[in-house]
Amino acid sequence: MPDAPNGAGGELFTEERSAEVVAASFARTPDPRLRRVLTSMVEHLHAFVKDVELTEEEWGAAIAFLTRTGQTSDDVRQEVILLSDVLGVSMLVETINHRTGGTSTESTVLGPFHMVESPPRELGADIALDGKGEPCLVTGRVTGPDGEPLAGALVDVWQANDDGFYDVQQPGVQPERNLRGLFTADADGRFWFRSIVPRHYPIPDDGPVGELLAATARHPNRPAHVHFLVTAPGHRPVTTHLFVAGDPYIDSDAVFGVKESLIREFPVVDDPARAAEVGLPNPFRTVHFDVALLRADRPVVHGAPVGRAS
Ligand code: BEZ
Ligand code: FE
Repeated sequence: MPDAPNGAGGELFTEERSAEVVAASFARTPDPRLRRVLTSMVEHLHAFVKDVELTEEEWGAAIAFLTRTGQTSDDVRQEVILLSDVLGVSMLVETINHRTGGTSTESTVLGPFHMVESPPRELGADIALDGKGEPCLVTGRVTGPDGEPLAGALVDVWQANDDGFYDVQQPGVQPERNLRGLFTADADGRFWFRSIVPRHYPIPDDGPVGELLAATARHPNRPAHVHFLVTAPGHRPVTTHLFVAGDPYIDSDAVFGVKESLIREFPVVDDPARAAEVGLPNPFRTVHFDVALLRADRPVVHGAPVGRAS
């Protein structure tokens, strides 16, 4: 058949060959990557519509839902990313693009609350400015993949307060930059700071994504975590979390962000001398979180991990 003006090859639309007909309309896309992505997306989308035999009412409801999701987004709220988060797409993209080959700290989602710069703080500083929560000493070491210390690595941390809110969600209620800090690792790659034991909190659930969670009997909670963004010259940055072992939501994170390698115990230290030394009341909690970065020149790991079904 002669080429149609839209590049579809002149074949008319039928239920059976719908995906092929529409995919053919992209055949002249000059950018090969865009052509591949659009072709695959159409194939999967048509297969999905055929699989569930989507009704017109369902199609209309989906369009209305996506429209409201877009309209709920603004400069400070990104409901479309939140939808991607609760569908596990954000975590899948993150994981595919940061394969570690088992030699460095695993990554997880950035989340929407890294919207302000963390203030540079001295090692040992207390980032809990609102006086709430259970005091905790956080220690760790930044290394390269072979364990070599990365002196001067930047360790950016942020977490929710003991009421389950980030400072940016409660302007005028929490002190500015509460529970945020940018630390510079010492000559041995070590960092330490005072904070509180994080607690679980709900993602914003008063919009279309919250409706989706409610309609599917899913809770909106994320297990307790501290966010880390660690960078060092010549190395790949890692965006990750430190999770609290035993959290009630550790196995059911609303955004699927938990990886086994990122869960740590937060033991109690009952030692008045040590408490005085680190500047915390006795007893206090502790956690140790080492971060290993990949070298920037390491080849990217392509393909799904060995052992996957497909
Ligand atoms: C967070 O951990 O801050 C977060 C991540 C994804 C969606 C909402 C919140
Ligand atoms: Fe968070």
